[in-house]
Amino acid sequence: MRRKLAAGNWKMNGTGAALAEITGLADMYPDPSVDILICPPATLLHRAAGAAQGSSVGIGGQDCHAASSGAHTGDLSADMLVDAGASAVILGHSERREDHDEGNEDVRAKARTAMDAGLTAIICVGESLAQREAANTLDIIGGQLSGSIPDQSTGQNLVVAYEPIWAIGTGKVPTLEQIGEVHDFIRARLERRFGEGVGRSVRLLYGGSVKPGNAADIFAVSNVDGALVGGASLKAQDFAGIIDALQGA
Ligand code: PGA
Repeated sequence: MRRKLAAGNWKMNGTGAALAEITGLADMYPDPSVDILICPPATLLHRAAGAAQGSSVGIGGQDCHAASSGAHTGDLSADMLVDAGASAVILGHSERREDHDEGNEDVRAKARTAMDAGLTAIICVGESLAQREAANTLDIIGGQLSGSIPDQSTGQNLVVAYEPIWAIGTGKVPTLEQIGEVHDFIRARLERRFGEGVGRSVRLLYGGSVKPGNAADIFAVSNVDGALVGGASLKAQDFAGIIDALQGA
């Protein structure tokens, strides 16, 4: 059985005051039946890991460099994330792919380094609105999966997040049928490439405007094992609505 995962992506939000949201979550969920992960900005990683220490809340990064160290001003290595207390890292988020021109090969190289460092890589895939309207969604996702996911992937070190770009931060959500179609497709691709055992053990998250009010419906869709949540993960109270829905799914 895949253990469900509620992952929060704080993006470029949060200073020290936001650590109270993490301790709040830890207090609310001493023994949850799902995994809870918060990915704060890098400046908060170490303190966030301290705030979450001994609790049910895991801490993750939002990106890492493909190299393990070296002359890369402003970047962070996977080992640094581990050293700061992270157990996972989001890679290939559409905002990174767009803002920093990251291609599938870049994401794959980062994922290799992250997995080698012992991190779980949460690899994001997703189509633009134009790609969906041109009926290219599955082609795009298929290319991102084969290009971004490294061969060494397992159910422990890989999570895939399906995040339609047009649904991120917009309040727009695909229909449940559209989510189901893509998640079933991702599952089939993973099984084909890695075999049924590994393919079935990788957790698939949906991301894009997940809120407490729509989470239960989304979590009822086949092959949705949790969510990657932006805006609604910033406040413990909002995120709790999503965690509760996942626990009830
Ligand atoms: P959102 O972001 O929940 O604010 O739409 C999701 C994400 O980008 O991971």
